[in-house]
This record gives sequence, C-alpha cells and structure tokens, in this order.
Amino acid sequence: MTHSLLSPLDMHLHLRDEAMLKVVAPLSAHSFSAGLVMPNVVPPITTIEALLAYKKRIVEASGNDVFEPLMTLFFRSDYTRSFLEEASLHVKALKLYPSGITTNSEGGVASMDIEVLRPVLEAMSDLGLILCVHGETNGFVMDREKEFGSIYESFASSFPRLKIVMEHITTKESVALLDKYDNLYATITLHHLLITLDDVAGGMLKPHLFCKPIAKREEDRQALLHVSLNAHPKVMFGSDSAPHPISKKECCGCAAGVFTAPIALQALTELFDKHHALASLQAFVSDNAQKIYNYKPPFKEVILEKVPSLVPNAYGDVVPMFANESLAWSLKNVL
Ligand code: DOR
Ligand code: ZN
Repeated sequence: MTHSLLSPLDMHLHLRDEAMLKVVAPLSAHSFSAGLVMPNVVPPITTIEALLAYKKRIVEASGNDVFEPLMTLFFRSDYTRSFLEEASLHVKALKLYPSGITTNSEGGVASMDIEVLRPVLEAMSDLGLILCVHGETNGFVMDREKEFGSIYESFASSFPRLKIVMEHITTKESVALLDKYDNLYATITLHHLLITLDDVAGGMLKPHLFCKPIAKREEDRQALLHVSLNAHPKVMFGSDSAPHPISKKECCGCAAGVFTAPIALQALTELFDKHHALASLQAFVSDNAQKIYNYKPPFKEVILEKVPSLVPNAYGDVVPMFANESLAWSLKNVL
C-alpha cells in the first residue's frame, strides 16, 4: 500500500544555524516542499540583512533538494511601518514570543498590552503580514496556553483583518477559539497529536519529549486529533521540530524541543491511516496552509509506503522522536 502527498509543508520549523543547520536542513528539505522557519536563533532575526543572510545559509545547507525556506522575522513592538513595508517583500509572517517564555525568546515582547503593540499590529494588518504567536503566559505550566486565550481573543477582535496563527496549540480551549474568530488559525505538531503529559513525565522522565508548550491531557489531545483528522480548514501541520544537541537534552536543565522533522511524514501517515483518515492528510500537511498563507509551494511528490522503517538513534548529535523504534510507514520515493 502506498500514499502520495503533494508539496508537503511544515509551517513551524526550527533549523538553527551553523553545524546544527547543516545536519537538520537537509532532512526537512528531503521530504518537505517548504517550511516556515522560526527566527529564534542567536541573535534573533530582527533585520532584513540578517534575514537574507540566514535564508542564504539555509538554502546552501539544504543541498540539491527542492525546498523553499519561508522566512519569518522576530516580532518587536518598536518596528516602524516603513521597516515592515520593506520586510513584507521578504516575509509572510512575524513571530511573536512573550519575553523569556521559551528557547531564545529573551528579546521577545515584555508586555502584551494591546496599546503598546497596536502600531505594529495595525501596520501588519494593512500590509497583509501574518502574526504567528507563541501563546503562553508565565502562569502554572499546565494553564499557560489556556490563560493566553483572552490575549488571542483581544488580538483577534481588535484587528479583524490580521491573520493570527496560534502556534503549536495543545488545548481544547485553543481548538474552540478557531470557530469563534474568523481570523484565528492554528498549527498543530505531530507530538501533540500523539502524546500527553503522561508520556513525558508519568513514568521515567523522557527528556526528548519535553517541549513548550508541554503536552497536556488526553481530552486536549482528542480535540487536536478531531480537527486534524477531519481536515478542519483552519489548521495546518507545523512540526515545531526543535533540535537540541543530546548534551542539552540528557542533562540537568533539559532544553525544550522535540525533533521530528525526518520522521514527521511517516508518523503522520501512520496516525491518519490508523484513524482511517488518510483522505484528510493532504489538507492538513499542505492545502490548508496554501490557502491560509496564500502561497503556492514548489512541486514535490512524496510517496510513502506501508513498510516498516526503523528510526535511527540519532542524526548527528540530535535524538529524534521514536529513536530506535519502528514506524509502520516509510518514505518510498520523492519526485
Ligand atoms: O519546545 C520548544 N522548543 N518550544 C518552543 O517554543 C521553542 C522550541 C525551540 O526553539 O527549541
Ligand atoms: Zn517553535
């Protein structure tokens, strides 16, 4: 049995830089047609010069595979309208991080006060730039995303023409917001479709499953599954594949991030197949994002085959999800 996917897109991807970029970029470039690249490198991407130079390094690291890095800028509340006008020639989206909320987000937004953010959000709205948000407060870890809901609601109602992507949603409350506001969209990761907090910390602690936002309850996972498997038009696949070297994961003070890029399509196909929902996968991994981002990706056909594949124990010094385990599907061919 085979299943074919056309121009799969990863709408939330961390590629890092330097040696790590050289390890991970070819893995995404092999099976995805394009990826929305997160700007939380060190230092974060806040200028057009840095953006273009980073894009060039990604293209070089990607090798000969057809792969378009869709660049993002790190949101700052002091960007001017003229800067954003120039930026809009190079990016489709800006990524907003509350300051200090996750990896390399120290330079993020200190206050979510809508009046402080208004000039930038208004300009983005006028320019058709998309706002991607890491939606967590600094409250109790299991409640952070739910608490951010009121901020999503005030953004969505104050800027009705601004497309807002709630990144890597993990709760049933975030899922419910999709149907409440026309201009709210979401990315969903592979790992949040598969695991709950129990898988991370219910038994022996699993550092390679530790990420932000942390995986939540089974009822939340079911809500994410429901919209994904039913091809809800406002959800897109975004892996949030976030590589960290093994020394930063298997240590005291584990970095947040699950590395899924090289196994994402195989594992998604297995999941959708298990739920008799393969017919929805094309929308989830490409078509919905094309519409939301008004984007036509380069052509790529990925053919998957229902033949077991063994996941390597590491790529360079990064441990992937399902390391040393077998997946029911494998990549057969990429055209
Ligand atoms: O788990 C995560 N890792 N969540 C994020 O928001 C950032 C990411 C990273 O950059 O490592
Ligand atoms: Zn991320």
